[in-house]
This record gives sequence, structure tokens and C-alpha cells, in this order.
Amino acid sequence: MKIRRCAVLYLESREELSIDWRAVLAGSSALAASTHWVALAPHLDQELKVSADELAALGGASQTVWRARAEAEQQYGADCIARLLELGLLVSDEAPHTAVRERDETLRATHWRPLSALAHTFGRWREVSSETGMEAPSFQALLERFGEPPPPTMELPAQGALKLPPAGGGRLDEQLLQRYTGRNFDLQASVPLDVAARLLHRAFGAQEVRKVGPHAEVLKKTSPSGGGLHPIEAFVLAQRVDGVAPGLYHYHPIAHELRPLRQLDSEQAAAMARAILADQRWLADAPLQVLLVGRTERSFWKYRNHQKAYRALALDAGHLSQTFYLLASEAGMPAFVTAAINDADIEQMLGLDHLRHAVVAVCGCGPAREGERAMVELRYGETDAI
Ligand SMILES: Cc1cc2nc3c(=O)[nH]c(=O)nc-3n(C[C@H](O)[C@H](O)[C@H](O)COP(=O)(O)O)c2cc1C
Repeated sequence: MKIRRCAVLYLESREELSIDWRAVLAGSSALAASTHWVALAPHLDQELKVSADELAALGGASQTVWRARAEAEQQYGADCIARLLELGLLVSDEAPHTAVRERDETLRATHWRPLSALAHTFGRWREVSSETGMEAPSFQALLERFGEPPPPTMELPAQGALKLPPAGGGRLDEQLLQRYTGRNFDLQASVPLDVAARLLHRAFGAQEVRKVGPHAEVLKKTSPSGGGLHPIEAFVLAQRVDGVAPGLYHYHPIAHELRPLRQLDSEQAAAMARAILADQRWLADAPLQVLLVGRTERSFWKYRNHQKAYRALALDAGHLSQTFYLLASEAGMPAFVTAAINDADIEQMLGLDHLRHAVVAVCGCGPAREGERAMVELRYGETDAI
């Protein structure tokens, strides 16, 4: 059997603090710290405690060159190598370790920048709910907890500043100035089908398909995209869209159609929205929601092992969501976007692999409740609502 180290591995020295009561009684420092090593490997998707001996064996193993297992056992001990194989931090070319090896190969084949793979893998949420930190505190509560925030702008010397003329009017003004984040969606209202269709097409649809090779195409959308690759896919959770049965769909940007993935009844759709949005009830009522999922394999096809590629995925999703907001605003509806989502649960729901797909954000929109104020509504001219 031959072995090598997994492709991406980071080791972190973790600290646990405790009160040393004996020291307290003796009148010296009360805080005691104990440290241990934690291995973070994106292909495994879980944190693993490792010993100093295992650390040495990992440090001595190549991530590229295969080596005979027996030879490594002689150097580091059979138990140590067996445990590292079991954990999946060492990979082997034989059963029973094939599943781990396949995950390691997927990571190698997708050209992730190692630090980005790590930030992505270990930044995902499972079953997080508002009770575990997602409540939306008022600014007043934040001020009490954290004191004054840094000023709203960077104040560089104004000496010699060029005063600019007023912005003047423009055709985008109505959408730009009406846009706001809704937390006041009307549970009785639905989104008309033609409104949903325009929104999906103008925000996520291909306005043009360009052939760039015999079997290669790029899409032109209304938002910009890093490298013109448009790696963000739109999955739709329809709760109340006229003519669309509640459920999960994939929006096909060229065919301009909703391809069904899972039919749901209204209660199931509402529960799914709450689960996806980490129990943010104020957003979950939105009748039309769009899950933005980056296809890393498409992006990293060009941006191989690239420092900026993961950031570009997030920027792409941000552009799409602002276009979505403006289209919702045009239709007289508030919208929302959030990254506070249970992305690992969304992957499972959609059958996605976190190494090949990065769930980035969820946005949504719908008619607002008549006459009710949003929870934290920051509308132009109405800032007293904060
Ligand atoms: C990246 C991003 C993440 C956001 N996440 C949340 C969120 O988790 N929950 C929420 O209620 N609003 C969220 N928002 C909305 C902001 O709170 C909102 O944009 C801000 O309060 C300003 O209000 P406005 O959009 O009405 O101008 C998010 C906005 C952005 C751009």
C-alpha cells in the first residue's frame, strides 16, 4: 500500500482556558491554558484533534509523492499511520480508504486556493438558528454593548477638496431611491408570474449566449462577472408565486424556465425558508426566494489556485443581488439578501458538493404589508425607524 498526505492541510494550535482554583486559593494567576493541535482539511469537512506524534508524521509526508506505507510505519509507528489513515489526513491508494481518496482527488481537481478552500469549508453553517446568535439587535442595543462605532466615513483632510455638482436626476433614480431591505413581507400576498419571470430573467437570465469555442459558451447577463464566467446559479424557493407550485426549482438562465427539484406544500416551503435563513423570520416570509450558488469548478477552471477567485465569487453574487433588489424595487416590492444562511444544509437539500459548489447568499422579495413598518427599515427620509 502506498500513502501520501492529503492535498490541503492546516494545523492550528487551539487553546482552552479554565480557572485554576488551586492557583486562585494560593493567590496567583487564576487563568490556566491548555493547548492542542487541530487539523483542518477541506476534503474532510470536520475539525480533527491530532497529537504531537501525528503532527510529526504529517509534517514528514509529501502531499505529492506516494510512499510505501511500511516505510512510513517504520519511521513513525504503525499505530500513528493507521490513525492518520483512519482520520483521512493521510490518503492511500487502496480500500478501505477509497472514499477519502476520492474527496481528496476532487479537491485537487477543482483548483481551489488552499486558504480559500479552508475559509469556505469551515465557514459553513448547519442548523444554525436565530437563537444561536442571528437575532437582529437594534442599533441602540449595539451601542450599549459595543460603545460608539467608528465614524460612518473615512475623514481625510478636506483642504483643497473639489465640491462636486449635485447628482441631478436620472432614469435609475426611482429604483435606486426606493430600494430597501424588506422585513415586512405580506403573508397573504403573492408575486405575479410575469413579475417573477421578469425578475428572474433580468437578474439571472442570459441576455445573450456567446460561443467562444467549439464546445464553450459564455453568458451575457445584466450584472458583471469575474472573467465573464457567470459561475453563480439561481435556485428558486417559491412560496407564493402565482402559477408556480410551492417548491424548490433550478432557474435555467438560457431556457428561462423553472426546473422542479422538489414539490412542497405551503407549510413545508415556509419551514424550509426558515431553516435556510437560520430562522430569520423577518426574511423567511418573502414569497420568492433565490439561493445563489457559485460553481467553483467553472470559476476555477480559469482562476486556478488563484488568491482572488473566491472573493470574485462573492462579488458576483453581490452584483446579482443588487440587480435583483432594483428589479424588485421597480415592481414596487422590497427585497433582501443575506449571507447568514445554513449553507451546508442547502447543499444537502440541493444535492451539492461543497468543493464544487459554494452556496454564497440567499435573496428574496415580495409585496410589503400595508401600512406596517419594517423591523429595521432604512428608507430614505425615514431613518428614525432604526
Ligand atoms: C451581504 C449582506 C448581508 C446581509 N445580511 C442580512 C441578514 O442576515 N439579515 C437581515 O435582516 N438583513 C441583512 N442584510 C440587509 C442589510 O441589513 C441592509 O442592507 C441594511 O440594513 C441597509 O438597509 P437597506 O438595504 O434598506 O438600505 C444584508 C445585506 C447585505 C448586503
